[in-house]
Amino acid sequence: MKKILALVCALVMACGLFVTANAEGDLLKIGYVQVGHESDWRMANTQNYFDVFTKEAGFDLELIDCDNDHALQLSKVREFVQKDFDYIVIDPIQTAGWDDVLKEVQDAGIPCIIADRSVDASPDLYTTAVGTDMTAEGETAGKWLEEYLAGKEAKILVIEGSTGSSAAIGRAEGFNKVAANHPEWEILASQDGDFTQNGGQAVMEDFIKRFPEFDVVVCHNDNEAYGAMDAMDAAGIKYGVGEKIIISFDATNEGLKRTLDGQILCDVECNPIQAVIVMNVIKALQAGETVEKFTLVPDEGFCAPGIESAIVTTMTDEVLAGRKY
Ligand code: AHR
Repeated sequence: MKKILALVCALVMACGLFVTANAEGDLLKIGYVQVGHESDWRMANTQNYFDVFTKEAGFDLELIDCDNDHALQLSKVREFVQKDFDYIVIDPIQTAGWDDVLKEVQDAGIPCIIADRSVDASPDLYTTAVGTDMTAEGETAGKWLEEYLAGKEAKILVIEGSTGSSAAIGRAEGFNKVAANHPEWEILASQDGDFTQNGGQAVMEDFIKRFPEFDVVVCHNDNEAYGAMDAMDAAGIKYGVGEKIIISFDATNEGLKRTLDGQILCDVECNPIQAVIVMNVIKALQAGETVEKFTLVPDEGFCAPGIESAIVTTMTDEVLAGRKY
């Protein structure tokens, strides 16, 4: 039935009659299963969906905060299928375990968009994906460190993002690829901080006890970096140029503020402003157009003032002023 409605919809669209209403002329029902509320990045991403998928724009958005619970996320997708939503957008908490539910969405004829993170499933099982390249983000961080250290030895600690998430997997893969070329680098430990400030702090407290000597802390997101800083502050450990090196990901406003202050030496962006891209994909599908299997959300890296880099952009007041989230 959905497939017939989609066809009718495409024909009407071709006649230029409407853009985002479904075949009954109602608002388009969009179900979004959001990862949770673990980080500033996540809150910015959620707000961006509320800002873009408005009733005025022709959408009825139901966004579910899945609180980092994979089973809950699967059950909410199934609820959207039962309620016959027009589109389902999934931001997968973890890469694994999606085949069955994606097949159910497909069998129901509901277009499915994978957003932000990725799944370990055949691309034939979903309509399209929108997101950043997490492996490239990890590689950017590694290449910046390579440039900054210029052959010096380094003992490295890693506070990972949530285990099993494509964000953590990709960033680790990208960074490790660069690290593999540097026998003078030693990764002392790599531990899950769950993308939260508390998680980052707890892992860093543990690292400080176990590794009295280290040079670099790689945090898989800004909130983990703030937690790591809290732990280092409490232990009287200094960070910045000439001190311990902190590398982070996300490049949120607060993250870039701390980069401009010289506390974080390199912050690699992961852009949460993705809703308008998802909306354009939906509009294209409504118009019966073929969409790319993957739309890349571009991002870049930043480093602290006083550091010259060919890899990332050196922070300025103007860059910070332009960073809304
Ligand atoms: O999937 C994006 C990642 O998840 C962001 O880096 C992080 O802050 C978030 O929680």
